Amino acid sequence: MSCMLRTRNVRLAGAMAMRANFSTTAVVASDVKRLAVIGAGQMGLGIALVASSKAKVPVTLIDTSEVSLGKAVKFLDKLLQKDVAKGKMTVEYSTEVRDRITTTTQFSDVGAADFIIEAVPEIPELKFKIFSQLATEAAADAVLSTNTSSISITKIAAAAIGAESRVVSTHFMNPVPVQKGVELITGLQTAPETLQRAMDFVTAMGKIPSVSADSPGFLANRILVPYLNEAIICLETGLGTKEDIDSIMKNGCAMPMGPLALADFIGLDTCLAIMRVLYTSTGDSKYRPSVLLTKMVDAGWLGKKSGKGFYDY
Ligand SMILES: NC(=O)c1ccc[n+]([C@@H]2O[C@H](COP(=O)([O-])OP(=O)(O)OC[C@H]3O[C@@H](n4cnc5c(N)ncnc54)[C@H](O)[C@@H]3O)[C@@H](O)[C@H]2O)c1
Repeated sequence: MSCMLRTRNVRLAGAMAMRANFSTTAVVASDVKRLAVIGAGQMGLGIALVASSKAKVPVTLIDTSEVSLGKAVKFLDKLLQKDVAKGKMTVEYSTEVRDRITTTTQFSDVGAADFIIEAVPEIPELKFKIFSQLATEAAADAVLSTNTSSISITKIAAAAIGAESRVVSTHFMNPVPVQKGVELITGLQTAPETLQRAMDFVTAMGKIPSVSADSPGFLANRILVPYLNEAIICLETGLGTKEDIDSIMKNGCAMPMGPLALADFIGLDTCLAIMRVLYTSTGDSKYRPSVLLTKMVDAGWLGKKSGKGFYDY
């Protein structure tokens, strides 16, 4: 089958399955045999869950922290129970989904996967280190994907010495089980086949892929995060209370969530890291991170995940 025809069929099947119930059937066949997800935080866990439930692919979830893995498993069980309670999934299928996901602290387990998605914190040096390890420890034909929100894919690929052409970005949105769009980004070195394999896999996960250029923040965060930062500057300069800021954007501008609640949900450390990448890589003062945002991260007030942000959780 020609590549174009295959892509069209994959998209068509994906679109048809999108109308079907969440559930028990894979959206479209994927030739991925095992996925490894590095980082079991909110994004890594969401990716693992959707890969297991939608694409029916076995997943190895890797984290350096036993505590994070424990939290992830607890949260996974809660999400599955919720789906069963809402009638979105049978008990049997939730067990099947759960059983396809295994957790480990052993990085070398990436070797068994043919598709790897990195979802560790938005720290450039950390991602570069992981991709340099992947170049030697991953299978020779595995796709090496990053979920970075803003870091250059070309730079991440450059760290994967000898495997540069297999590096791509599959930028899932939060919460992964809910948001349909996935931003795909190639580095200068990415082979067209790598992009195609990424497109096929996210489609098999029931997602709608779109392609963005490799530029700071890509498309989604280039537009979204400066908006969140501006809302925080409005709060720090006393233009409104947090409730007023969130209320006018929700009730006046039809945003599904207020910007401060959304920043808390994303994670204030992640928002700050993205603003820093935008600011330092463009040198444009319009991307200056809010002083209040910086201070809140310094205080360890990271939003929902730490229990305190603009709101208490
Ligand atoms: N939070 C969002 O809304 C969102 C949306 C899209 C993309 N992203 C991106 O996804 C990535 C992950 O974000 P998150 O919100 O899930 O972060 P998080 O802080 O919730 O989770 C990160 C996880 O990585 C683990 N980790 C740290 N170092 C590691 C290492 N060396 N090896 C393995 N695991 C390690 C941590 O223990 C933690 O469990 C970031 O690049 C972020 O920018 C986040």
